[in-house]
Amino acid sequence: MPRSKSSQRWLQRHQNDLYVKRAKQEGLRSRSAYKLLEMQKKDKFIKPGMVVVDLGAAPGGWSEVASRLVGVRGRVYAFDILPMAPLSNVDFFQGDFCEEIIFHQFLAYIQHILVDVIISDISPNFSGVRSIDQPRAMHLADLAAEFAQRILKPQGSFVIKIFQGDGFETYLGRLRRLFTSISIRKPIASRDSSAEVYLVAMGYHAKMEI
Ligand SMILES: C[S@@+](CC[C@H](N)C(=O)[O-])C[C@H]1O[C@@H](n2cnc3c(N)ncnc32)[C@H](O)[C@@H]1O
Repeated sequence: MPRSKSSQRWLQRHQNDLYVKRAKQEGLRSRSAYKLLEMQKKDKFIKPGMVVVDLGAAPGGWSEVASRLVGVRGRVYAFDILPMAPLSNVDFFQGDFCEEIIFHQFLAYIQHILVDVIISDISPNFSGVRSIDQPRAMHLADLAAEFAQRILKPQGSFVIKIFQGDGFETYLGRLRRLFTSISIRKPIASRDSSAEVYLVAMGYHAKMEI
């Protein structure tokens, strides 16, 4: 199928992108890996031996970084609707993380342990219409926070991509009530033109209403 002009432009910008080139050279699966690396360098939320859940993981850039950081004593559990090629020390669940059946399969698999860190780089399929896309993105972010509330250890961390716009301040307020500290990060690898920012929430207060 011939590519549209705008998708040709996107492809060209992507191929020229410094982080895309760097990811290729360093054998990383995605340019997104650099966003997680930068936040980790600042906030140090992943430590050796930890159990990490990666929501919206494909093609696997964040899972790859998390797997290296937790090392052989730790484990990463990754979710995506799309398939993802295997990575060492990462168990992959293909499906919608919002579905109760997927969640229960996961709980049974990990034998109901609690996890140290949840990272979410989830993006919905954008239509290009802001009034449709923003509520869709905020809804997924709400579900990710609910997911975190169900399986995060006390004092655990939650790192999530959020799109600035309607609902952002309310979401931030919710996380502030659930965690001891929240930092808003815009990693250098995140394109200036994107409304995305990342919230790094640390010190989970378990058993509070969102
Ligand atoms: C920006 S990509 C993630 C990139 C990834 N962090 C990396 O470093 O390679 C966002 C992903 O979220 C996934 N996604 C969107 N909605 C989802 C859902 N409800 N459940 C699971 N994955 C979802 C998409 O399929 C997509 O692969």
